Amino acid sequence: MTRPLEAVAIAHPNIALAKYWGKRPFGHNLPAVPSLSVTLSGMLTKTRVAFDPSIAEDVLILNRAEAPAHETKRVRSLLARVRELSGISYKARVESTNDFPTASGLASSASAFSALAVAAMRAAGLPDDASQASDLARKTSVSAARSAFGGFAKLRAGVEGDVDLPAESVAPAEHWDLAVVVAVTREGPKEVGSTEGMQHTADTSPYFPTWVESAPALFARIEAAVLARDLGALGPAVEQSALAMHAAALAAAPATVYFTGATVEAIRAVRAMRSRGLEGYLTIDAGPHVKVVTRGADAKEVARAMEEVPGVLRTIITTPGEGARVIESA
Ligand code: DP6
Repeated sequence: MTRPLEAVAIAHPNIALAKYWGKRPFGHNLPAVPSLSVTLSGMLTKTRVAFDPSIAEDVLILNRAEAPAHETKRVRSLLARVRELSGISYKARVESTNDFPTASGLASSASAFSALAVAAMRAAGLPDDASQASDLARKTSVSAARSAFGGFAKLRAGVEGDVDLPAESVAPAEHWDLAVVVAVTREGPKEVGSTEGMQHTADTSPYFPTWVESAPALFARIEAAVLARDLGALGPAVEQSALAMHAAALAAAPATVYFTGATVEAIRAVRAMRSRGLEGYLTIDAGPHVKVVTRGADAKEVARAMEEVPGVLRTIITTPGEGARVIESA
């Protein structure tokens, strides 16, 4: 049997409508709360994996430059699992590029690790399997599990004894003509990464147990609203999920603050927009950007309104997209 040793995959980031924030204390990178996201077509990670007998260590080239050691370490952990599953012993050269700011709170780790999982599986000769790719990605970065699927995807909370935990599809991209308008408020990297920020929240925030207790009910409302395509029911639950996550982080000691002045201005602008009759709801990840969930038909108008907010540098209009997939293999 001839085995392809090289493959290229693409993946999109996803934005959580029901947020994941915090891990279970039993290892295996298990999320403490269920989450639900939409995979976004407007932004893309492209990753080439080549297992190569002539190299002694895995190498990661990120956006055309050698990657920092902590990023390379996470990539090696995923590649090690693929080597275990496939029996390949070669080290790999990984080249990855994002067409949006890396590590800025635009969910680059989600698209990065799902593209890596899919490319590495194919390069190692493993059969394409979205569920297995999702679980592999999740073991390195939880949110990445959801980008293995297109459209709307969910991931349940981990329970003791779980080792494998893939995300699942809720509905395909064409299920709902929704748009997410990203209001970019900073181009540089974020200060506190999500892994670190959520661990600090879990360790020190008195609100963390309340977050873990209340998240499943919000998740259930969000899943039902997605299935019913009901923006009026979805929006308030989406805003509450994001702001409750940030409230837990703000109550950590010392506080983890992802907001900047522009973030707060954008929150106010979304509320003002709604009171004028333009329906959009905000969500915020581990960074200062504000994302507005709205109807596809309203996306341009929402983007125009967000561009007028002081401190908003530009907007990106995204719509539900496809899951991670191979585009080239040797
Ligand atoms: C705020 O998936 O980046 O985007 O599992 O430690 O890699 P690790 O964290 P990560 O956290 C994402 C947090 C979030 C919310 C979400 O995507 O659900």
